[in-house]
Amino acid sequence: MKIVKTIDEVRNIVNSWKKDGLSVALVPTMGYLHEGHKSLITRAAAENDRVVVSDFVNPTQFAPNEDFESYPRDIDADARLCEDAGAALIFNPEADEMYQDALTFIDMNKITKVLCGKTRPIHFSGVCTVVGKLFNIVKPDRAYFGQKDAQQLCVIRKMVKDLNFDVEIIGCPIIREPDGLAKSSRNTYLSAEERQAALCLSRALALGKAAVDAGERDAEKVVEIVRAEISREPLARIDYAEAVDFNTLEPVSEVKPPMLCAVAVYIGKTRLIDNFIV
Ligand code: PAJ
Repeated sequence: MKIVKTIDEVRNIVNSWKKDGLSVALVPTMGYLHEGHKSLITRAAAENDRVVVSDFVNPTQFAPNEDFESYPRDIDADARLCEDAGAALIFNPEADEMYQDALTFIDMNKITKVLCGKTRPIHFSGVCTVVGKLFNIVKPDRAYFGQKDAQQLCVIRKMVKDLNFDVEIIGCPIIREPDGLAKSSRNTYLSAEERQAALCLSRALALGKAAVDAGERDAEKVVEIVRAEISREPLARIDYAEAVDFNTLEPVSEVKPPMLCAVAVYIGKTRLIDNFIV
């Protein structure tokens, strides 16, 4: 497995693979990789001849008040995990390699303005721009994204359709800690007490999902169950808890597929997200 830092190197390597008729997958990440990322890479390696993992803390998706500077980084550990999971190449550029002199950004209406987009107004423009650039650099046949970031998955699917990117988007299930907490690079920010409190997200969503499985069809009632459980945790502050259509991200009143029930919750200063899809 190789680690490269320039766009030219990625292009040369991928071109040589394509000449040999090999299929290529991309797994975009911001590094500090865990089992959630690993599940994407393992699946990509099973379904494609070569896997490229991008490992880049993308500055354009962080607002000035957010955690770009403190976001955890460990390229050596990432390299070991990628090798283990069957990746062939890590693309680990500096910000200048990606953005020097850039004046062009991808912007999307509607579905980037709701849920996480309300508290993070520039976030999805940064995500779309970097993912669009990565698609043009790597030219993958398939790209793998986690359902953990359900809105991101929805936004990327829409961008690919709207801008005619020639790539198949594969959504992958949420990987959790044994006690239910969704794996996230940001879990490292939590103190021992906050780590315990953070369980309210998965617990609340499990209660909501159980109500759906038991036949509840009123989406607002499901959301109420989720909210009530999170509200019992003193260290938690709800940013949002909503039931929306997974394609349009518009609120739904009736529980029916494809419904996304998503939450964002501050545990102390750390903002965590989680969801389930019907
Ligand atoms: P990052 O948070 O590093 O996540 C990279 C990919 O791993 C995303 O598709 C995310 O949904 C997936 N992932 C994270 N935690 C997961 C979990 N517990 N289970 C399953 N999948 C999980 O998302 C980003 O980076 C960035 O926004 C990026 C797309 C790379 C653009 O910069």
